[in-house]
Amino acid sequence: MSTATQFETNKIERTAPAQKKSSVSKVITDVAPDQLTRVPEMKSFKFSHSLGNFPALSIPSVRKLTLRLLEEKRFDQVHYRKGGPNKTKNSDADSVNDVLETIDSLETAGAWLRLTRVDEINEEFGEISEIFYDDLERLYQRDIRSKVMKTFVTLFISSPNEITPYHIDHSWNFLLQIGGRKTVHLFDADDPRVVRPQDREGFYMKQPSITQNHSVPGIPYDIAPGEAVHHPVHAPHWVQNGPEVSVSLSFGLCLHSMNDDAKVHQVNFMLRKMGFNPKAPRQSKWRDSVKKGAINLISDRKQNSFDDVVFSGVRRLHRVMKFARLTK
Ligand SMILES: [Fe+2]
Repeated sequence: MSTATQFETNKIERTAPAQKKSSVSKVITDVAPDQLTRVPEMKSFKFSHSLGNFPALSIPSVRKLTLRLLEEKRFDQVHYRKGGPNKTKNSDADSVNDVLETIDSLETAGAWLRLTRVDEINEEFGEISEIFYDDLERLYQRDIRSKVMKTFVTLFISSPNEITPYHIDHSWNFLLQIGGRKTVHLFDADDPRVVRPQDREGFYMKQPSITQNHSVPGIPYDIAPGEAVHHPVHAPHWVQNGPEVSVSLSFGLCLHSMNDDAKVHQVNFMLRKMGFNPKAPRQSKWRDSVKKGAINLISDRKQNSFDDVVFSGVRRLHRVMKFARLTK
């Protein structure tokens, strides 16, 4: 699958941009000439931004924002862990103090905190997101807003030297470093030695994560406050924090076209299990259409989130298979 065709479909219009009141007039401030050549190819690239050490993203402001999310019982927007990458938890009514203690001990706790959809409760993040879209559309010289089902504006806060393990994401991502430093090791999603069709298929069936092929080098992007890196869709990456507490802001664009491809990958997963060698998305229009139709048929009618759009079909299938196993 070529990422250069990510923009093809357009089904759900995003809401109109809000009136801009932010002090920020531009988010993307510069792309160096050697990085600019990578933009039209949809490859990873580094750029400069205006939000380095932004006051609304200082640790005290992040603590206030976290407290507000917890007070409003938005537990699905606060995820955290202490002492190792495999211990991520969703917050809940019983973990409010634990989350706040985690923030207060970031220097030493070996901790990681993710606050999602922060634009839903902080107007300024919503405005910054719209300014970012303006910059992105100028950079790519095309309409991007209408290709996006949902923008995930996410904050990542982590302890010194923390590591985020190798993984892939569904969204088209732009990671802006606000405080501290980190190195993002990015690998080419279009290289079949790096991402095999089976890896994408497994990802959309929530199978164990992709395995790194250590014989293929990636690109290490060192980012400091005011610097950022573009992650193409499905580009595997792992992240190493620097010696300070790190704060990063991520714009994750969930594209309609990727949601459609996800359903083709899900059917391909099942076909491969049956011994077939299925065609990847965008190689055959009619096959894609049949596969998407099959998943849509078993998906929830009412889809309120990205998770419903992409995963409700396979969730139902799993339930049916479990029931069949129990009753046979
Ligand atoms: Fe990621």
